[in-house]
Amino acid sequence: MKDFLKKINKLKPIFLDIINLGGIPYLVGGSVRDFVLAKDVKDIDIEIHKISLKELEGILKKFGHVRFVGKKFGVLRIDGIDVDWSLPRRDSIGRKPKVKIDPNISIKDALHRRDLTINAMAIDLSKVLDKDFKKNIIDPFGGLKDIKDKKLRAVDKSFFIQDPLRLFRVMQFLARFEMQPDRVLDNICKKISLKDSVTGKKISRERIFDEIKKLLLKSKKPSLGFGWLRKIGRLKDIFPELYDLIGVKQKKIYHPEGDVFEHTMQTIDVAASLDLVNLDLYKDENEKFLIILSLLCHDLGKPETTDESLSAKGHEKLGVAVAKKLLKRITRDKILIASVCKLVLYHMRPVQLLEGKAKSSAYKRLAIKLEPQVNMRQLGIVTLIDKLGRKPKAVIKEETIKRKQEVLNNRLVDKKYFREFEIFLSKVKNLKIESGSEKPVLLGRDILDLVKPGPQMGEILKLAYKIQIEEGVKDKEALKKRVLR
Ligand code: CTP
Repeated sequence: MKDFLKKINKLKPIFLDIINLGGIPYLVGGSVRDFVLAKDVKDIDIEIHKISLKELEGILKKFGHVRFVGKKFGVLRIDGIDVDWSLPRRDSIGRKPKVKIDPNISIKDALHRRDLTINAMAIDLSKVLDKDFKKNIIDPFGGLKDIKDKKLRAVDKSFFIQDPLRLFRVMQFLARFEMQPDRVLDNICKKISLKDSVTGKKISRERIFDEIKKLLLKSKKPSLGFGWLRKIGRLKDIFPELYDLIGVKQKKIYHPEGDVFEHTMQTIDVAASLDLVNLDLYKDENEKFLIILSLLCHDLGKPETTDESLSAKGHEKLGVAVAKKLLKRITRDKILIASVCKLVLYHMRPVQLLEGKAKSSAYKRLAIKLEPQVNMRQLGIVTLIDKLGRKPKAVIKEETIKRKQEVLNNRLVDKKYFREFEIFLSKVKNLKIESGSEKPVLLGRDILDLVKPGPQMGEILKLAYKIQIEEGVKDKEALKKRVLR
């Protein structure tokens, strides 16, 4: 919060120039919401009323190099200052709504086109330059009360449906802020078409991806988002692969939590929850995202492979194709897709290696297979969380004394899983394959005096590497002797 106020204070000279020219700078959008919620305000959006785009550009130029961002409409940025400057827009309702910059519309009209009441508040910065921020919140649609009541409400239904992405925004906001959409909003989202109302085009994958990323990274319980889609009857058409997990039974002794959908939801919640971050499991946000996404996909092969005895042999292999299908609809990032698929494909291996008391060579072979996208540490985390996401519902609620006992028992079980994870991790650390495979000892240059570069050399090096991995031979000369034999 202090950082945010400091940032705003630094912008004072720009505000003063705007005010001197007759303009009014308003803080708008998510920054006002996050300020009210006392969350870190990341993006600062300033909307300037009563002056033209040219005049705004003229003022901003005095403070640095100005760039226009956003395709059609004027959003300006000054290089090095992390703030979006824009003018209010007026849109009309109808089959082909037109959006036009209009500096003279009222702040209420400008806020009216925003998606949710919690995002449709403003702070008049000309009034609060020296005074209390909170007292000057302009809130024509009851956003403050909705924040207090933890309610998500559309500002205006007819404007809301103009951008179908808003369905995904509701999904991530409700999970992130643990708020409830009201019945009207549920009904709008039940019916909203996923195609743009003007162009008829589908929402771009990139826009959907951004919202899914926020859902998985910014909420402690991303399951709330998927649960809501299920509740309003949209899980089937938006994420059919997840919908198919509903009702897929699992063996009670391994999965007291219920069906595969419940299990998957529990795993993404564990992966997203703060405790794991505090344990320093994730290297960075990207890694955290990769792991949550992999958990979302890890059992997608189960609907097809679960047999009458409730075993799901080969689900990890089959799951790769299903995961690809889901992921391709939300991203073009081939590396991310390949990384998730690797973690899905091998998510059963760490437990198999531990339980089978496998030799070091088996661990090393697995590390090779994971490359180049992922590594043993990441796979270990996925496997750990796969185990942690198995709580009977009673345990999650933590209500009665009997349940408390169950909670304690479950903590013991969790401890056991953490211990297994530590054993796995120390094994891969000892083998130095935590973040990559063992590098080959014998290289081409070491046998140049004996063989020319070419297919034969390739064969020899392959054999040497095999001996190194399988037998643990790491001495160059010994390897050379072995392959030449
Ligand atoms: N907005 C909207 N409809 C959209 C996208 C954005 O009405 N489809 C409006 C909302 O008022 C929103 C603001 O534009 O608050 C800024 O949007 P954006 O930066 O995408 O999101 P934020 O609401 O700031 O939220 P986040 O913290 O997730 O970035």
